[in-house]
Amino acid sequence: MNILILLAACAGLLALRFVPKMNILGWLVGWWAATFVFLRWGINPPLPTSIQGMFLAILTLSLLAYISANSAHFRFALDRAVAFATEKKYTVALLVTLILLPCLVALRVYFDVTEGPAPPLSSRTIHPPPPVSIEVAGRTIDLVNDDNPYRALETEDPAAFAEHVANGRRVYYENCVYCHGDDMAGDGLFAHGYDPIPANFQDATTIAMLQEGYIFWRIAKGGPGLPSESTPWLSAMPAWENFLTEEEMWDVTLFLYDFTGHRPRAREDHGGGGDGH
Ligand code: HEC
Repeated sequence: MNILILLAACAGLLALRFVPKMNILGWLVGWWAATFVFLRWGINPPLPTSIQGMFLAILTLSLLAYISANSAHFRFALDRAVAFATEKKYTVALLVTLILLPCLVALRVYFDVTEGPAPPLSSRTIHPPPPVSIEVAGRTIDLVNDDNPYRALETEDPAAFAEHVANGRRVYYENCVYCHGDDMAGDGLFAHGYDPIPANFQDATTIAMLQEGYIFWRIAKGGPGLPSESTPWLSAMPAWENFLTEEEMWDVTLFLYDFTGHRPRAREDHGGGGDGH
C-alpha cells in the first residue's frame, strides 16, 4: 500500500469539509474520486483493472443507496439532475458532456485495442548458469563432467540406444506433451495458460545450444530449481525428479534431441548455459 496516496486521498476528503456550502453531490463526487485515486495509484503491486472496476461499481451502488436513504438528499440530487438536463443555462455543459463521454469511452477502447506488447517489468535470465552438481534420488550428478550415460550407446550399441530413445518417447508423450506440444514447439494444450510459455525445443535457442547435463538439470529440478537470477519468473516447469526415475529423465533428454534433429552442445566448450549466444 502506498501510504502517501492514502494520506493525500484522506486530506482531499478532509479539505472538502472546509468548502463553504458543500452540497451532497460534491461529497459523492469527492468520495468517488478519492476511492478511485486510492485504488488506482495507492496499492502496490497494482490491482487488476477489472477488480478496480468492481470495487468502484460497488462504491457507486453504495453511494446511490446512501443518497436515496435520505429523502431530502434524494430530492436535492434529483432536482439537480433534472435542472442539468432541462435548464437553459446548462445547455452548453450538457452538450459537452453528451459528446465528451462517448468520446472518452471510444478513446479508451481504441487505446486498449491498439496497445503494443510491453517489455516485462523486470529482466530475467532465460538460461542461467547451472549448479556444478545436483542431488537426484540421493545420488550426486556432476553437471560439469558427467555426460548422458546412455549417449555413448548411440555409436556403441544402436539397438540399445533405440530402446532408450523409445522409452524417452513414452515419457515425453505421457508427461511433457501437454505443455511442450505434439511437435515440441512449446504449443501444447496447456501452453497458453502459462507465463513464461513452455520452451520450444524446435527453436535453435533452447536444447540446440545446451549440453545434456543442463537439460537433465532443468528436467530434474524444473521451475522451482531455477536460481534467483531467473526469478521473479514463475516457471510452471515441474521438478520431474519427483515423478520420474533418473534413467527416464536421461532417456527423455535423448528423445528431445532425436525428435528435433538437434545435437547437444559439444562437451569441449564447458560453461553450460549462459545467455546471449
Ligand atoms: C506444466 C507444463 C510443463 C510440463 C508438463 C513440462 N514442462 Fe518443461 N517447461 C515448461 C515451461 C513453462 C518452461 C519454460 C520456463 C523454464 O525454463 O522453466 C519449460 C522449460 C523446459 C526446459 C528448459 C529448456 C531451456 O531452453 O532452458 C526443458 C529441458 C523442459 N522444459 C523439459 C521438459 C520435459 C522433458 C518434460 C516432461 C518430462 C516437461 N518439460 C514437462 C512447462 C512444462
